[in-house]
Amino acid sequence: MKDLSLCAAMLEALRDPAMIVDGEERLSALNGPMKALTPSARTGDMLSLALRSPDILDAVRRVLAGGVAETVIWRELVPVERVFDVFASPLDIAGEAHAVVTLRDLTDLRRTERMRVDFIANVSHELRTPLASLLGFVETLQGPARNDPAARERFLDIMAEQGRRMSRLIDDLLSLSRVEQRQHLRPGASVELVSVIRQVIDSLGPIARDHRAKLHLDAPEMVNMLGDRDELLRLAENLIGNALKYGSLPDQDNQVEVSITLIEGEARLRVRDHGAGIPREHIPRLTERFYRVDAGASRANGGTGLGLALVKHILMRHRGRLEIMSNPGEGACFDAWLPLS
Ligand SMILES: Nc1ncnc2c1ncn2[C@@H]1O[C@H](COP(=O)(O)OP(=O)(O)O)[C@@H](O)[C@H]1O
Ligand SMILES: [Mg+2]
Repeated sequence: MKDLSLCAAMLEALRDPAMIVDGEERLSALNGPMKALTPSARTGDMLSLALRSPDILDAVRRVLAGGVAETVIWRELVPVERVFDVFASPLDIAGEAHAVVTLRDLTDLRRTERMRVDFIANVSHELRTPLASLLGFVETLQGPARNDPAARERFLDIMAEQGRRMSRLIDDLLSLSRVEQRQHLRPGASVELVSVIRQVIDSLGPIARDHRAKLHLDAPEMVNMLGDRDELLRLAENLIGNALKYGSLPDQDNQVEVSITLIEGEARLRVRDHGAGIPREHIPRLTERFYRVDAGASRANGGTGLGLALVKHILMRHRGRLEIMSNPGEGACFDAWLPLS
């Protein structure tokens, strides 16, 4: 002998959306999460009005008619795509057949799953292209070009470049997975940020020359903070490298301004270029793995498409954040915010 108010009280204690449907297919109880999901549903409403899903309705009908518990998948497309695992099971309340319906939100799980599948497809694709080219040249050298020293020199150069491309990709993938693995471990070493930036600027000298770009640094004498020096080097290398590679215009002198400013307990590392800029629709996706605005330009510059994903993860580990501002034709500005302690 169970009574409805007790059952309703128990529903209220559940974390996931849940409701009780009576023999007339009306809602006899719904908990807080269920109300949040279907704000217009009230006790006494028909289930068919509360949740517009024929699959759920059919499952509930079978349960009310004496069937066993069953699971259906409910996909909601508006306002945003969401997927639920819906479990309907029979419950006798005061001698009458009812159905308890509980929902489990699978949206995040599905999204992670899709990301994992896409990621593997992307990695395979990025490796396959240089590998196919390497194997092609090996065959040519074994066959038609066997006795052609000039061709051999040229092909070996191309093969070396394809090999370097694959090794850059593996390096970036390993860096990314290392940072991800230590995501929850906040770095605790003391680092002087200005010397990190100076080191990066020095090491990028040849790339700056290639793009006829001048790097300017505006920073305090010293900025001491807690961090991971290697990761901060990678972060600055990616942001400043990108500004030189994608933020320079051909056949003219270019400027890239780097600054460090202390604002309310945080250091703001700003990298500003005056290149072609980035169309608005691309900006939110730049930190996705393998996302590039122009894949050809990225590859020509030795890019892997993983740089900004790495930057984002390094900033997350440092409890910082990245802000990207750009208008087409007006260059781009990348702000990395880093808490000092
Ligand atoms: N300063 C910039 N100006 C214009 N486009 C940029 C800039 N920085 C990054 N991008 C775009 O973002 C893409 C992703 O950058 P990133 O993740 O560093 O990968 P990669 O440099 O290996 O291509 C680049 O391919 C480029 O299209
Ligand atoms: Mg890059």
